[in-house]
Amino acid sequence: MERELALEVVRVTEMAALSAAHWMGRGRKNEADEAATTAMRRMFDTVSIRGTVVIGEGEMDEAPMLYIGEQVGSLQGPEVDVAVDPLEGTNIVARGLDNAISVLAIAGKGNLLHAPDMYMEKLAVGPALVGKVDINAPLEETLQIAAKAQKKNISDLTVMMLDRERHDTIVKTLRRVGVRIKFLTDGDVAGAIAPAMAESGIDLFVGSGGAPEGVLAAAALKCLGGELQGRLMPGNAVEYQRCVAMGLSDPYKVLTMDDMVGKDDVIFAATGVTSGSFLQGVRYLPGERAETHSLVMRAKTRTIRHIQTQHYLPYKQILKA
Ligand code: FBP
Repeated sequence: MERELALEVVRVTEMAALSAAHWMGRGRKNEADEAATTAMRRMFDTVSIRGTVVIGEGEMDEAPMLYIGEQVGSLQGPEVDVAVDPLEGTNIVARGLDNAISVLAIAGKGNLLHAPDMYMEKLAVGPALVGKVDINAPLEETLQIAAKAQKKNISDLTVMMLDRERHDTIVKTLRRVGVRIKFLTDGDVAGAIAPAMAESGIDLFVGSGGAPEGVLAAAALKCLGGELQGRLMPGNAVEYQRCVAMGLSDPYKVLTMDDMVGKDDVIFAATGVTSGSFLQGVRYLPGERAETHSLVMRAKTRTIRHIQTQHYLPYKQILKA
């Protein structure tokens, strides 16, 4: 993939974030999602790729655009797999809370896992713990390893997870061991990336969330030198069969970084819709301007770019029309 692509794709998440931000705090999550999806789809036309959506808004019969298998891009340039979540954290935006992002990942054709829409158990870590932890190990053991490897007291570890009843057993274990927990209401792409962001203060991300979100987070972690281990959680026979049909003969197998994002280059871009641990949300400025904050990264070079952009809104309206 051309390195210029990294800078091209940020326009796509910027436009989606700007469109979703209009709906922030209005209690209308579907409208926010639709606005982000429409804007992202349109902006893809300007990007020099022959892209196939492998993670998107759903199957062809469920989603009008950015559906699995849809061709996106200017249809010139490299053949790539595209994973998108135009608005990660629809409830967050509707309620005006923190940590909603617009996000995408691009990799060479055949590299991104076509993760089915079901839960995935996740364990994510930053560079200091790569290769040292195992999702199959008891959590207590993982915490001891994490503390030792980072020369921290176990009671000083901070673990991030979605605040969900299904995590009650994990919470009990974490409380027993005495670590600190930072709960998220939603948005586990940002959550799983946090351990690889030194300034986040998060040591581990655990628990289950969407499988497509797991692949997007794995793409970011590959660029940051972190790691995500995942395991699909088919909830019934239909979901189990869906995994088998995807080529996963053992749906419960641990998915490694290579399984999820391949061995080659990956580009990851995210723009904040509402402010979070590593991205500022869209801010409206005087003079019909709005500022976005994006993160664009490339696995091959491990370059991390923070891009702050001021948009002139009347011009963006023309693009949307
Ligand atoms: P949406 O943006 O689709 O609403 O997803 C938000 C999210 O919190 C994801 O980040 C996460 O992976 C998933 O929902 C968790 O699902 P659930 O709310 O069912 O626990």
